[in-house]
Amino acid sequence: MLDRYNLKMPHAVYGGVNAMDNITEIVRALGSKKVAMFTDPGIEKTGLFALPEAAVKASGAEYYVLDDLRPEPDYMSVQRLIDDFKQRGADLIVACGGGSVMDAAKLASVLVTDEYGVKELLDNPGMARKCVPIVLIPTTAGTGAEVTPNAIVAVPEKELKVGIVNENMIADYVILDARMIKNLPRPIAAATGVDALAHCIECYTSNKANPLSDTFALRGLDLILNNIEKACDDPDAMDAKNAMQIAAFYGGLAITASGTTGVHALSYPLGGKYHIAHGVSNAILLVPVMKYNEPVCRARFADCYDQCAHDGSNLTTVEEKSAWIIRRLDEIVKHLDIPTSLKPYGVPEADLDGLVEAGMQVKRLLVNNMREITPEAAREIYKSVL
Ligand SMILES: NC(=O)c1ccc[n+]([C@@H]2O[C@H](COP(=O)([O-])OP(=O)(O)OC[C@H]3O[C@@H](n4cnc5c(N)ncnc54)[C@H](O)[C@@H]3O)[C@@H](O)[C@H]2O)c1
Ligand SMILES: [Zn+2]
Repeated sequence: MLDRYNLKMPHAVYGGVNAMDNITEIVRALGSKKVAMFTDPGIEKTGLFALPEAAVKASGAEYYVLDDLRPEPDYMSVQRLIDDFKQRGADLIVACGGGSVMDAAKLASVLVTDEYGVKELLDNPGMARKCVPIVLIPTTAGTGAEVTPNAIVAVPEKELKVGIVNENMIADYVILDARMIKNLPRPIAAATGVDALAHCIECYTSNKANPLSDTFALRGLDLILNNIEKACDDPDAMDAKNAMQIAAFYGGLAITASGTTGVHALSYPLGGKYHIAHGVSNAILLVPVMKYNEPVCRARFADCYDQCAHDGSNLTTVEEKSAWIIRRLDEIVKHLDIPTSLKPYGVPEADLDGLVEAGMQVKRLLVNNMREITPEAAREIYKSVL
C-alpha cells in the first residue's frame, strides 16, 4: 500500500445516451479551427467513425482523418503517423478507436516538436509536454487508455511492448458512448474485457494500491465479474455492455492512481515477440500469475470476494474466498474461448530463456507485484503456459 498517492484525471468525461454529441460543443468552446481525427481501418469498416465525424463536422471546424495505423503498432509506424500530423497541423485531436488508436493520438498530442520523437520518449518519457488538447473516444471496453497517462508501443529490436508514461498524455475530454461498443465482435469484446479485468485485479493487488485506486479497482472488478460473459455473448445486452464500458474506464483510473503488476509485465514480451493481442496475452497469464501471487495476496482476494461475489455462496474463510476469485478468473477466460496457453502460437520451449530475459526487463511493473517475481519464477510461469 502506498501512503502517498494522487489521481490525475481528464478535464471532463461525457457518458450516457448520445454522449458523442458533446464533441460539437467541445470543438466550439475550444475555438478550434482545425481538427486532426485519428482512427483505424477496422473502425472505419464498421461505420462507427461516422458518429464522431458528424459531430466534428457540425462544429464548422476544418478537419482531416489519419487512419494509417495497424493494431498494436511499433514505435516507427506511430512516428510516421505523427510526422504526417505535424506536417498538416491541428489545434485539436479527436481520436476514435481502441487502445492502439488512442495511444498513437496521445503520443501525437505531446510530440508537436522537432526536438524529440517517440523513440526518444521511450528512453526519457519525462520530457513530453502537452502541445495539443485531445478528445478520446474508446471503441473497445478494455484498455482504459482513454483515461491513463500511458501509451504502449511495440519495440521490435527489444521484442517487447514498452509503456511510455507521462501525465501530459492524460486526455482533456473523454466520450463514453455505448454505441461504439454495441456491436463489438465477440473475440475483441472478450480479449479487451479480460484486459480491463486484469487492470482491476492487478491494481487491487499492487504494491502501489491505495485508497483511490482501490475504489475504482474494486468497483470495476465487481462490474466485470458480473457482466463480462453476458456482454460478450448477448448482442442485445446493453446494460452489461454499458457496465463493461464504465468498468474499463475505472480500470484505467485504477492504473493511473496505482499500477498493474506481474500479468502485464510478463505479457509484454508475448505481444512484442509473437504479436499476440494485448488482451489475449494477459488472459493467458492472468490465472497462472494470480495463482503464483495467491499466498501473499490472499487477504486482498478475499476482499474482492466480499465486494464482488453475488452468487449467494456465503464463504467464510479467507482461503475459500481467495480460491473462489481465482476459480472465477479461470471460468471467465475459458467461457470466453480465449486461449489459456501459448500452444496456438507455436512458442517452442527453446524460447523460454529469451522470454524470461525480456519479461525481467519490465521492471516498471514487476516492482508492483506483491510477491517478488524472480527469473526462476518467471520461467515457471511461462513454462506452465507453453
Ligand atoms: N494506454 C494504456 O493505458 C493501455 C492500457 C492497456 C493496453 N494498451 C494498449 O492498447 C492496445 C490494444 O488496444 P485494444 O485492446 O483496445 O485493441 P486495438 O485498438 O488494438 O484494436 C483491435 C482491433 O479491434 C478493432 N476494433 C476496435 N474497436 C472496434 C469496434 N467497436 N468494432 C469492431 N472492431 C473494433 C480495431 O480496428 C482493431 O483491428 C495495445 O497496444 C495495448 O498495449 C494501452
Ligand atoms: Zn492492459
